[in-house]
Formats: sequence, C-alpha cells, structure tokens
Amino acid sequence: MSRLLLVQTSPRGTTSVSRSITDRLVSEWQTANPRGQIVVRDLAESALPNVTAPWLAAYFTPPEAHTADMKAQLALSDALVQELLDADELLISTPVYNYNIPASLKAWVDHIVRKGLTLGFDGSGLVKGKKATVVIASGGVYGEGSPIADRNIAPQYMRLILNVIGITDVSILHGEGAKSVDMGEATMEEFVERHAGPLKQVSAA
Ligand SMILES: Cc1cc2nc3c(=O)[nH]c(=O)nc-3n(C[C@H](O)[C@H](O)[C@H](O)COP(=O)(O)O)c2cc1C
Repeated sequence: MSRLLLVQTSPRGTTSVSRSITDRLVSEWQTANPRGQIVVRDLAESALPNVTAPWLAAYFTPPEAHTADMKAQLALSDALVQELLDADELLISTPVYNYNIPASLKAWVDHIVRKGLTLGFDGSGLVKGKKATVVIASGGVYGEGSPIADRNIAPQYMRLILNVIGITDVSILHGEGAKSVDMGEATMEEFVERHAGPLKQVSAA
C-alpha cells in the first residue's frame, strides 16, 4: 500500500488556486493507487510553532541526554519527521507570498530538516527513495522573458530543500498568473486544466 503525505498551505480554502490544482493531482493519485493512504498535514488548519530557544537547546543536546522537557520540545518535530519518513510520496501545495513560500510552510521545513534524522551529520540527505511533487500558485508570471524572472525564488527553494534532505525526484508544477482567477479573467476550472491537464513541470527551477 502506497502512502502519500499531502502538505497543504493556502488559507483560502475552495478559492485557493494551489489547492484546486492539488485536488486534481490527488484524484489522479487515488485513481493510480486505489488502495493508497493519504495523510494530510494542513498548515492553514493547524499552524506550526516557530523554532524557539528551548527547542534549539533540545535540538543541540544529544538524544541520550534529553530531559523530559527537551523530549516534549521536540515531540511535534519528531512526529512531523516520522510522517515524512513513513510516506512513499510527498505532495506539497503552496502559494507564493513575497516571492517565497509562506511562513507556515517554512515553519514545517524548519521542523523536518533535522540533523541525524533527515540530514546526516556530514550534510548528506537521509530521506531516500521518495518522490515529491510541489504545486505552487503565484499571482505573477516568472517564465523566460518575464521582467521578474529573477524573483522566482519559491520553486528554487522548494527543490533545494527537498534535495538537501535527500529527495532528488522532485517535480514542480507552477500555476503562474493565478491572479487571472481572482480577477475573473479565467475560471478556476480553466486554470486548473491549463496547468494540471497535461502535467507541466518547471524542470529548471
Ligand atoms: C500576502 C500575499 C503575498 C503575495 N505575494 C506574491 C508574490 O510575491 N508574487 C506573486 O507572484 N504572487 C504573490 N501573491 C499572489 C498569490 O501567490 C496568489 O494569489 C496565489 O493564487 C495564492 O495561492 P492560493 O490561491 O493557493 O491561496 C501574494 C498573495 C498574498 C495574499
């Protein structure tokens, strides 16, 4: 049985472009994996805490010396790492905010990049044999010839961070120009069809 970890980020519910594209991919995944299990981590429904001083103190203490409080500090991060390690595939869905991923998704990244668990002490990624798809919705358009092409940070960052923890099979589906939906120039269905119909990938990101 295959297991998909679905990380959702947008707070916009049914009006979210990234969620709408992702819904299409999820139903394709369910068709391909009728007995598969989907584990949802919805960062808009339940926000993760940012890293704090007590969290860092626990992180930089060897596990064998952890106090009960240190274990409690890292418990959520441990659970998020386990959720990731238990998955065969990862599907991350996110808007672009200020050219990068939203703080809610960055908080997830800060919890799952863990030395000794997902990242080796030599800097090598420990998460092997998994495939990741990242769905990104941005109001702007960043492709070749765009005057803001150099601001296309979010796809690059997500590919980088997944590579860092060892996931090298990364597909990025970038729904650029999503503001056309909000402005009523395209319906959500048209936009999803255009971007997720024939799977589009930003391989160079
Ligand atoms: C706070 C905020 C910041 C944004 N910053 C950017 C940006 O820097 N670049 C961009 O292309 N779009 C930006 N947008 C537009 C969103 O990426 C766009 O509305 C997208 O559809 C949001 O994803 P969602 O529909 O899944 O919520 C921003 C939107 C918000 C609300």
